[in-house]
Amino acid sequence: MKLPPIPAERLPGLLQAMPKAELHIHIEGSLEPEMIFALAQRNRVRLPYDSVQALRAAYAFTNLQSFLDIYYAGASVLIQEQDFYDMAWAYFKKAATDNVVHAELFFDPQTHTSRGVAMATVILGLSRACQDARTRLGISASLILCFLRHLSEDEAFATLEQALPLREHFIGVGLDSSEVGHPPEKFARVFQRCGALGLHRVAHAGEEGPPAYIQTALDLLGVERIDHGVQAVNDPVLMQRLAQQRIPLTVCPLSNVKLCVYPDLRSHSLKALLDAGIVATINSDDPAYFGGYMNQNFRETFAALELQASHAYTLARNSFEASFLDAGDKAGLIGRLDHFFEGAAA
Ligand code: ADE
Ligand code: ZN
Repeated sequence: MKLPPIPAERLPGLLQAMPKAELHIHIEGSLEPEMIFALAQRNRVRLPYDSVQALRAAYAFTNLQSFLDIYYAGASVLIQEQDFYDMAWAYFKKAATDNVVHAELFFDPQTHTSRGVAMATVILGLSRACQDARTRLGISASLILCFLRHLSEDEAFATLEQALPLREHFIGVGLDSSEVGHPPEKFARVFQRCGALGLHRVAHAGEEGPPAYIQTALDLLGVERIDHGVQAVNDPVLMQRLAQQRIPLTVCPLSNVKLCVYPDLRSHSLKALLDAGIVATINSDDPAYFGGYMNQNFRETFAALELQASHAYTLARNSFEASFLDAGDKAGLIGRLDHFFEGAAA
């Protein structure tokens, strides 16, 4: 669409109100400290922190691993199906206020099954929240099961087998956790099997790891999107490939600063990715840990990189294009976005 001129002072309102999709949110990363303590009490789980304040004070991360250690400890309070529902429902209520109209949620079943929580408890709780998001909030939502890459491929296969009886509740698989030292090729066979099962495939790559991990995620895992992918800026040939093949990147700006991938938002590569014609999107990753949900990511990134209304349109449009919705639903949401921008110019 040819974008009508929009005055700069309308930008904050526009970012808030425009319809958008979130494609990179670890639902366990939406557990706010207050909910961690409430669930710990409900389930009689002992936490290694005395208070909400003490827990929040520990959120001073130096890299991905320093975050993951605390993130897995926080997830230990999730025991009952209702806990998974409550966590996801709290996220959806926040997403609705940010005008997220479609969300694809990552979850980490191995974090829970390793503590004796049944796969069905995890998936059915999350799936029920997704259904309620649709009927009560008008947000379409689906689930993506992530394998933990610091564990073995055999464990990933076992996780897949446990999840397959619940196949109708998730649309795809992903790969997350500690990146460096756990390259995509470690999971080539399990991803091949997932492809044969008709599951969508995504993987974290090029968050802290090298651009080569992005390449092998594409070539050996057959992924349709790359999560993060910001290290691609260090490889011009890869940049061209991502742009030409329209391979989306689900970028998470506040996460990248909190985990010290960039010293500050002004140094972030998002604008360079967009300028190169790459289908980049903005997402929150682990909003309870990284300082904000979707619109906080939009607001702070736009201010730091001096982005304009045309970037807002592109990012929202990219989020729908990059989603795993069917063609008709994508076209419907892009039409809604176009209508929104036409109205914003009036
Ligand atoms: N799990 C949750 N958040 C993650 C991130 N940013 N990178 C890798 N694994 C994660
Ligand atoms: Zn992530």
